[in-house]
Amino acid sequence: MGIVYTKELLPGMIVASDIITPSNQLIIASNTTLTDFLIEQLKLNSITEVDVKGHITTVSSENASYSEKVTSSENFRIFKEKFSSNSKQLETAMSHIINNQQADLNDLVVQINQMTPVGATSIEIFDMIHNMRSFDDSTYAHCLNVALICRVMAGWLHLSDEDTDILTLSGLLHDIGKVGISDDILNKPGKLTSEEFDIMKSHSQKGYDILKNKNIDERVKLAALQHHERCDGSGYPSTLHSDNIIKFAKLIAIADVYDAMTSARVYRKGLCPFKVISIFEEEGLQKYDPKYILTFLERIGSAYINNNVRLSDGRVGEVVMINSNTLSRPMIKIGEEYVNLAKNVDIEISDII
Ligand SMILES: [Fe+2]
Repeated sequence: MGIVYTKELLPGMIVASDIITPSNQLIIASNTTLTDFLIEQLKLNSITEVDVKGHITTVSSENASYSEKVTSSENFRIFKEKFSSNSKQLETAMSHIINNQQADLNDLVVQINQMTPVGATSIEIFDMIHNMRSFDDSTYAHCLNVALICRVMAGWLHLSDEDTDILTLSGLLHDIGKVGISDDILNKPGKLTSEEFDIMKSHSQKGYDILKNKNIDERVKLAALQHHERCDGSGYPSTLHSDNIIKFAKLIAIADVYDAMTSARVYRKGLCPFKVISIFEEEGLQKYDPKYILTFLERIGSAYINNNVRLSDGRVGEVVMINSNTLSRPMIKIGEEYVNLAKNVDIEISDII
């Protein structure tokens, strides 16, 4: 078929050669069948035309990836609409706070509460958050994501309704100090210089300074200040240890890191939850309060019991049991065989299917 403008691409077209971004990054390999989701990715990555093969295949719901199934659902369409309007409302609210104008924060919390479909499971909410990334990757979107993840965690931890709302507001405003930091630093694709990193790190203190004299719950202000502190004293700005970090900042730290993991700009077939768990395990669970991080990771892992996964050796099986000592390496049933990934460390889960 030859070269086709990205705006004219259709799901089902097959990519004829590797697609490389202007910054030399491979985003889609040759022979990949395009989907709506992938075409969106191409637009986001400023790819204007694509070399495609001669015939079109149809993406059926059976062979659609996990991520495509999420994004093609009615629930996701509604979520996406609410997300866009709430992202704008949050932007306005933050600007009002910064300019000492009235901001209706209670209404914002109510809107967040109504964002997720009635009856949606925690994992469905996480999947929608993850898939929303390709449409909105702003600081406001990140704050919305953190607020939504915090609400899910609040449910897991049986927090009171009042605490849940305060935690939600803490999530919405935790990065308000980033509003004053230039986009060149916030969106810099490469590694920050140490000077730039210092500017970036100043956002937690700046956020606290913006909020401190406002008529806002004290816990929201401290969450903005402390959400980069870590329980082992390795965080900033004050290298606080666990006892001196408030619960709300500890919960936001987990939601913040989880959201950062889903923010990779390169297309992935849906975030593998076991990869998330292993990244937390590698980073060091001692950075987080064990009461919260273990609940968080166990909930994520157990939600995928009975789901099919593809292993790195190509085999497909079913998650049958989570190993509490190595949460990222569950027991997998393949046919009649049980493969314990805790003992087969050279194999890992590559995909949820
Ligand atoms: Fe932050």
